[in-house]
Amino acid sequence: MSNCQIVKLMTNRYSARVFDETFQVPKSVLESLLESVRLSPSAYGALNYRVLVFPRSKTRSELNPIFGNQNNFVTASEIILFVADRWSKVESQTVDKTIDLMFPDSQDSFKKQIYANNFHQRYDGLYKNNPQLGDEWSAKQVYIALGVGLVAAESLGLDSCPLGGFDEKACTKWLQTKGLIAQDEMAVIALAIGKASPHPKKAKIRQPMAEFAKIIN
Ligand SMILES: Cc1cc2nc3c(=O)[nH]c(=O)nc-3n(C[C@H](O)[C@H](O)[C@H](O)COP(=O)(O)O)c2cc1C
Repeated sequence: MSNCQIVKLMTNRYSARVFDETFQVPKSVLESLLESVRLSPSAYGALNYRVLVFPRSKTRSELNPIFGNQNNFVTASEIILFVADRWSKVESQTVDKTIDLMFPDSQDSFKKQIYANNFHQRYDGLYKNNPQLGDEWSAKQVYIALGVGLVAAESLGLDSCPLGGFDEKACTKWLQTKGLIAQDEMAVIALAIGKASPHPKKAKIRQPMAEFAKIIN
C-alpha cells in the first residue's frame, strides 16, 4: 500500500451499513468535521448550501421512513443533511450574499459589479428558463462538500456513509413543514457518521488504474 496519507485514508474508509448505537461523536470532533466541510470550495465561491445536523432523537426518527429505514441512517451517531439553495434563491439572494462577504469594503462596488455580471452572464442563459437545471448546479456544489466530509470523517477516526437513497421531495417537504428550511431550499444528500458496528472487511471494487486514468502528453 502507498505511504501517502490520503491514499491510506481512502483505502481504509468504507461505507458503514450499521453503526454502534452506543457511540456518540465527541463535540470537538464533530466541530472539526463541520469546519472541514464548511471550507469546501464551490463554483464562483457561491455560498449556496448549508448543513443540518441531526443527533439521535425523536425528531430524527421521523425521517426514518423517508430514508427507507436504512440501518445506517437509523443507527448513526449524527446525520449531516446537506441543504442547497434552489436556483430562485441563488439568483435572488445567494449571489448578493456571496459578493457582500467577498468584497466587504464599501469601495469595492466595481468589483462587486464585475462578479455579479460574470455570474449572471455565465448562468442566466442556462438556467433562467430552466430553473431545474439551476437546482442541479446548486446540488453539484454540495457533492464537493460531501467528498470533503467523507475524507475528513476518516481522518478524524470516524466511520461514515453517504446517503443518497432517500425521497428528496418528501425530505424537503418535511424540513419545510418543521420550519427548518425555506421554500427555496432543498435537501440534497446526507452523510451518516459514527463508529461502525463490527463487520467483515470487504474488498474495494474500483476501476483498474490503467482504465481509470490516462495521461495525455
Ligand atoms: C452519492 C452517494 C449516495 C449513496 N447512497 C447510499 C445510500 O443511500 N445507502 C447506503 O448504504 N450507501 C450509499 N452510498 C454508498 C455506496 O454504496 C458506496 O460508496 C459504494 O458501494 C462503494 O463502497 P465504499 O464506499 O465502501 O468504498 C452512497 C454513495 C454515494 C457516493
